[in-house]
Amino acid sequence: MANRKYIVGNWKMNGLREQLSDVADIASIAENHKDVDVAICPPVTLIALATETVPGFAIGAQDCHFASNGAHTGCLSAAMIREAGATMTILGHSERRADQHEIDADVKAKAEAVHAAGLGAIICVGETEEERDAGQAIDVVCGQLEGSFPDDADAGWLTIAYEPVWAIGTGRVPEASDVEEMHAAIRSKLSALMGDGADAVRILYGGSMNGGNASELLAVPNVDGGLVGGASLTGEKFGPIIEAAAAA
Ligand code: PGA
Repeated sequence: MANRKYIVGNWKMNGLREQLSDVADIASIAENHKDVDVAICPPVTLIALATETVPGFAIGAQDCHFASNGAHTGCLSAAMIREAGATMTILGHSERRADQHEIDADVKAKAEAVHAAGLGAIICVGETEEERDAGQAIDVVCGQLEGSFPDDADAGWLTIAYEPVWAIGTGRVPEASDVEEMHAAIRSKLSALMGDGADAVRILYGGSMNGGNASELLAVPNVDGGLVGGASLTGEKFGPIIEAAAAA
């Protein structure tokens, strides 16, 4: 049986209070498509405000620290983002792997901390253009998945997002056949890592997904949804992706 589609907006470092109306617009579109799971991950500063604006709508964070507390200036623990109202968080996004030098072991520790706090997690993996050109894309992605994989993985809280680094924010999208090949490889790696429960773990595609290409991407086998950056900032742009998921 196909997994329920999951469409997640990653707002990155975008959004002030005035954008709460966009969260409200998106939540009302989601309300009309209850067969799709929809969430928005705004900047941390908007998490509590967003949950007050749209009670019951899923709001997530974009990162959290693996420690439960302590001397980590500028960081937030899983309990803190949960208290703010987040129900899940993105982890190991390629921008954090590049800018904050996060490594697989960090992502694994963060995922375990997030689960211990009762939150869901979306672990991101993806190859660079050089790695794809060198024919290493599947090895790189499966290696990241294995290194980042939490010991207590379960589809109830864990989601994987395949985001080719070269497709993020560039308007470039892989061929559907390449997405299919990669998602199948991730699925079989999940089976090797966790056995029977692997089929229920949702694998999202991310990287320049928009209203124009969502239907084709969401129809690819093993694509259980999307992690969307630029096209998630308004209801006008994000709505067509939610609708494409509902029709998939
Ligand atoms: P994009 O970002 O949709 O703007 O390419 C996706 C992501 O980085 O999660």
